[in-house]
Amino acid sequence: MNEHWDKKTQIIGLLDHRTYISGELIAQKVGLSRTAVNNHIAQLADYGVDVFSVKGKGYKLPKPLPLFDETKLINGIENRCFYFNEIESTNAFMLQHAEELKNGDICIAEYQSAGRGRRGRQWVSPYGQHVYASLFWRLNQGMNAAMGLSLVVACSIVKSLTEFGVDGLGVKWPNDIYRDNKKLAGILIELSGHTMDECNLVIGFGINMSMSEQHADLIDQPWSDLSSLESMPDKTALITNIYKQLKIDLMLFEVEGLTPFIPQWQKYDLFYEKEINLLMAPNNISGVCKGIDKQGAVLVETDGKVTPYIGGEISLRAK
Ligand code: BTN
Repeated sequence: MNEHWDKKTQIIGLLDHRTYISGELIAQKVGLSRTAVNNHIAQLADYGVDVFSVKGKGYKLPKPLPLFDETKLINGIENRCFYFNEIESTNAFMLQHAEELKNGDICIAEYQSAGRGRRGRQWVSPYGQHVYASLFWRLNQGMNAAMGLSLVVACSIVKSLTEFGVDGLGVKWPNDIYRDNKKLAGILIELSGHTMDECNLVIGFGINMSMSEQHADLIDQPWSDLSSLESMPDKTALITNIYKQLKIDLMLFEVEGLTPFIPQWQKYDLFYEKEINLLMAPNNISGVCKGIDKQGAVLVETDGKVTPYIGGEISLRAK
């Protein structure tokens, strides 16, 4: 870890959301001057971390800021785990190193300076407050299987979240995860070096754990997080569980395809049997959502006829 983050994470470890700690005590404990402590705390704001500062009392966090436990990550993850305090984008990192990676290698970060969302959007990624990760997978069936696989990833994440007591979950084709009908998690699968029979996939996902107002304002769609849960899942335990679940499910998908996942998708599908619009420029299709098929296409019934629709440029909306 570089010096800059070494000191900042030590300082974050001393800050609490219930009581103030003086700058002097922090300085003593981390072996820095008061001015250096002030500077580190001021810089945290650039990473989206708010710290209350009151003259005579010291510093306090507005809410808990639980970071990943790097030692537990390394012990819990059999594959290579690249953990960063700060990175441009976990997807970009994995794509840059795709040729050297093995199935299941994972990159996890506390902060992304250029987090990527689908359709060229930005994924707001303040330090420590959410989960940002990318898993590498080399698919032997080539890129045609990637659409089905993206639905599998949504199923795996929903399964893990359910094990951690998260309620109100739903999925929206092709791979959005909702809680209480608002977006909780997003999945971005990017491909590199693909041929007809092999392609490298970087499976990126971001899960909102605890959104602050400051960042909520930057998000242009209804969102949800896990802050209303009685007990917040431990980030390290959650990501380790998702990693394991993804590996199990991706291996099953390679052997049996999407078929074993269709019932789970249907159980959580927010639009199943509902009136929907499919936006697929220049046409829009209206009909009743009939779930998904074995290829991962969304099925829409119009005038008594069910038609599969598939492709990266289609958006599904409630009618
Ligand atoms: C979406 O727009 O719904 C997809 C969001 C995906 C965000 C994750 S966060 C970790 C990984 N790295 C990125 O740059 N993006 C994905």
